[in-house]
Amino acid sequence: MRRPVRIAITGSAGSIASNLLFKIAAGEMMGKDQPVILQLIEVPQAMEALRGIAMELEDCAYPLLHTITLHDNVEEGFSNAHYALLIGARPRGPGMERRDLLEVNAEIFSRQGKALNEHANRDVKVLVVGNPANTNALIASRNAPDLSPSQFTCLTRLDQNRARGILATQTGANPRDIARVIIWGNHSPTQYPDLSHATIHGHPAMDEISQDWYADEYIPQVQNRGGDIIKARGVSSAPSAAQAITDHMRDWCLGTEPGEFVSMGIVSDGSYGIEKGIIYSYPVRCNYGRYQIIQGLEISDFSRERMKKTEQELLDEMAVIEHLLPKDTADSHKNLSIRLRSGQTVTLYSDNAGPDGKSLYSETDRVL
Ligand code: NAD
Ligand code: LMR
Repeated sequence: MRRPVRIAITGSAGSIASNLLFKIAAGEMMGKDQPVILQLIEVPQAMEALRGIAMELEDCAYPLLHTITLHDNVEEGFSNAHYALLIGARPRGPGMERRDLLEVNAEIFSRQGKALNEHANRDVKVLVVGNPANTNALIASRNAPDLSPSQFTCLTRLDQNRARGILATQTGANPRDIARVIIWGNHSPTQYPDLSHATIHGHPAMDEISQDWYADEYIPQVQNRGGDIIKARGVSSAPSAAQAITDHMRDWCLGTEPGEFVSMGIVSDGSYGIEKGIIYSYPVRCNYGRYQIIQGLEISDFSRERMKKTEQELLDEMAVIEHLLPKDTADSHKNLSIRLRSGQTVTLYSDNAGPDGKSLYSETDRVL
């Protein structure tokens, strides 16, 4: 048996976590041979509900669940965490956009960035789920000067899963046979679900659908799915979000399928002409617990226009919370270079090797 890993989770008594915690404890996220310590964090008023969830976890008698600890503050809850899932935040209700939550949730994420900086394991991997996820992740990362910006990601895997599921329904394919769907940009209605590189059974997905359906129905449906679920359920997505969190962390830690790529919100290194230093969803592949942006994809004018629109929205969001971004971390977020053992300096993510190429990072001993 391996040594247990510490997973800190904020919003642990909320809807998403109520689905997620049981999947983690069952080994769906970190693997069936990886014991876990769950460091569950909530606001003080939800601690009694959290105690109830801890009892239910205990009652499942999961062999991989080593320990559960309960915390009413992030400073204690993040202590030595190897993984931090930042879910706790105010969700939007009907009629709201995710950016309406910017001011409400921004304070939470600057405190959490500072707490991770001070208390988490130095190699902590962070996933921000609370909305607006990209900008919250940027706030947390910019408030953690001693951690690498590459340790902070945000969730766009739910959008990717939606994009595969909806395409599967339209074409009659099994989602398993659909690959290389990309989500570019913000987890918001400006996101761009891109099928230009997607395949179904290894053949171009665009050959199976019409351009009109793609542009006029499919793209808006994926972009607005979160809002449609809120309209239908009265509350925001939870089981599908829990599944996407599990997928995101599993792929980041254990690696992507050969030849496949997945979408993650990460600090832009300028790839594909996107402004450096914002958290933008890119196609990546993961290996050895690290991720790299897929380079060299051909970008049509149709795609470029949509990638720029969602970039602009992220720049606008950043302008609103600029006062919460410490100046001294601006440079580290715009300069993601690392030195390889060979002495060569490369941009953190860009290895120019393409999806099937050999990774330059097998040459480095730097753990990201
Ligand atoms: P919820 O209201 O059911 O649960 C949120 C929980 O967080 C509550 O129990 C609350 O007490 C707790 N909380 C609030 N502030 C906290 C803090 N500072 N520290 C610790 N805990 C705190 O909401 P939910 O449905 O679980 O959604 C959580 C967040 O995830 C929302 O912001 C929602 O919009 C977002 N979300 C994102 C995605 C995505 O794909 N990125 C998908 C679904 C939901
Ligand atoms: C989603 O996409 O389902 C979540 O971000 C919740 C929301 O506010 O849409």
